[in-house]
Amino acid sequence: MILMAKPAKRTLIATVEATPNIALVKYWGKRNEERILPMEGSISVTMDEQLKTRTTVMFSEKFKEDEAWLDNKKLEGKELGEITKQLDVLRKRAGVGLKARFVSINGFPTAAGLASSASGLAALACAGAKALGLELSEHELSVLARMGSGSACRSVLGGFVEWKRGEREDGSDSHAVQIAPVEHWPEIRNVIALVGEGRKKVSSRAGMRQTVATSPLYRERIRTLPGTIKTVREAILKRDLPTLLEATMRESNNMHAVMLDTWPPITYLNDVSKEIIHATHALNESEGKTIAGYTFDAGPHANIYTTQEHVPKVRKMLEGIPGVAKVIVCGPGSGPKYLAGKQEHLIDPVTAEVRRHHYDAKSNKIVVEA
Ligand code: ADP
Ligand code: DP6
Repeated sequence: MILMAKPAKRTLIATVEATPNIALVKYWGKRNEERILPMEGSISVTMDEQLKTRTTVMFSEKFKEDEAWLDNKKLEGKELGEITKQLDVLRKRAGVGLKARFVSINGFPTAAGLASSASGLAALACAGAKALGLELSEHELSVLARMGSGSACRSVLGGFVEWKRGEREDGSDSHAVQIAPVEHWPEIRNVIALVGEGRKKVSSRAGMRQTVATSPLYRERIRTLPGTIKTVREAILKRDLPTLLEATMRESNNMHAVMLDTWPPITYLNDVSKEIIHATHALNESEGKTIAGYTFDAGPHANIYTTQEHVPKVRKMLEGIPGVAKVIVCGPGSGPKYLAGKQEHLIDPVTAEVRRHHYDAKSNKIVVEA
């Protein structure tokens, strides 16, 4: 009798840490809802590991269904559906039918306007592709992440990043490219002021859909965006801080203006956010030059771009404003990191059980409990 050796089963598991990105030129509006194709391009800085998402994806014959956990809560219904949709794209690409387990944790508030969807969907694309052994280029990973959440396509790359609008109907040319790596301008900082808790009331997805459908001012925004993108790209390349900051503030104000022009109007800024806007202008005035520039996403938290030397002044300004709950200083980050250590997976590679894990705010680490 000839004994045939069973082919060794590959362990289809990977863990990635990705970080959010905060746009200087915002993405707000799609030309194709289903494929997540933007009306225009956008530019962002990928954050460093002050803010991070860790995600483990495992494919196995052991699993009867896809299962997903986010921040230690099992996902159901629509939220699970979003993950499964992404897993399906990856499975199709790899020609694999195996079900998967997805476990992710954000080391910062989820769905509160700090771009958890960007780091989350970028981490899913990178971990899923790696687990399946797909050798994808940054371009391909960016397209994959975009299909989960538009802004996620920018978190696949580090440093200063531009999401090219693209022209093709299938979206294959709508992806992020790096304008410059971290080393080009390592002194850049985003001083984040958290000004309130809780999930946002209108999701970015629903909000931007409503803007495209109802805001007359939106047409003007789309007309001027290519010029803004050029100004910001060139200011980054020249390390021209005042030009970059002024364009960033004007751009944020423009996006929030079209949000207010939406019917019914959408407002994400609160009184504390508005106080921060005025305080930033006052700080620049007193310095006699533009050293700080705010930008707000779909939430009330402020992102104040500046450079390292001015951080103490910006921090002092923010700490003097009642309602600022916490200040986080982020530098530019170099993009997703693959964690190879077996102990770092959020799923046990042998038993396939979800490992106990938590985020430790004091050390800013994601801790996998033994
Ligand atoms: P945010 O400003 O934090 O991006 P959104 O409302 O735009 O808020 O997106 C939040 C949604 O993004 C969550 O409800 C969830 O569906 C998804 N998301 C957040 N974090 C992750 C993650 N780590 N992995 C996968 N999806 C995530
Ligand atoms: C205000 O990328 O979350 O943060 O593509 O529908 O998932 P979907 O939207 P999402 O929107 C981000 C909007 C923004 C601006 C930006 O990051 O460019």
